[in-house]
Amino acid sequence: MADLLKLGVLISGNGSNLQSIIDNIEKGSLKAIIKIVISNNPDAYGLTRAKKHGIPFIVLKHTNFKNKEDFDSELVRILKSNNVDLVILAGFMRILTSVLLKAFPHKIMNIHPALLPSFPGIHGQKQAVDYGVKISGCTVHFVDEGIDTGPIIIQRAVQVLDDDTEETLAARILKEEHRIYPQAIQLFTDGRIEINGRKVRIKAEK
Ligand code: GRF
Repeated sequence: MADLLKLGVLISGNGSNLQSIIDNIEKGSLKAIIKIVISNNPDAYGLTRAKKHGIPFIVLKHTNFKNKEDFDSELVRILKSNNVDLVILAGFMRILTSVLLKAFPHKIMNIHPALLPSFPGIHGQKQAVDYGVKISGCTVHFVDEGIDTGPIIIQRAVQVLDDDTEETLAARILKEEHRIYPQAIQLFTDGRIEINGRKVRIKAEK
């Protein structure tokens, strides 16, 4: 059997996307292994999820580092020492520096709770509700040096209802996030992602 794709998952909070990745791995629909979960927040519930499933985890507090580059260097060291092939940002609330980006070129994915390029940055769901759009959704993309600007891998639309609040919309978007993130990782595992400039082409199944 071919080697499983080795993931390093970076979190800061609840970790429901981490959970969906774990669940898909456990039921066999995602052929990958999580080598390490890293949280910059010691109170992240995602750490409890990792623990429950016997996945190694580390807390790396960004406040213990002199600057962003030093923090990222330590992330790189941990990810490389775990032989990570693909870095998964799952609610990781830190902006990456070139230290991490250069160490994993086109090998860092993020999920964003809006249809990029609309509503980047934080509170994508609130931005959508406040703007009054009728459709929002979620986006899995590769990470580049911008904020939520990298090549888009999968998007899924979610209808915005008249009486939606940030919370109700976020909950419906999250359900779709939990579907498309494991799918995007599986596409990577299958070698079906081709990047051309800022465009991603999904190659047909063999
Ligand atoms: C998700 O909405 C994701 O799109 C955003 O942060 C949230 C993380 O949620 N980047 P969780 O920690 O995976 O539950």
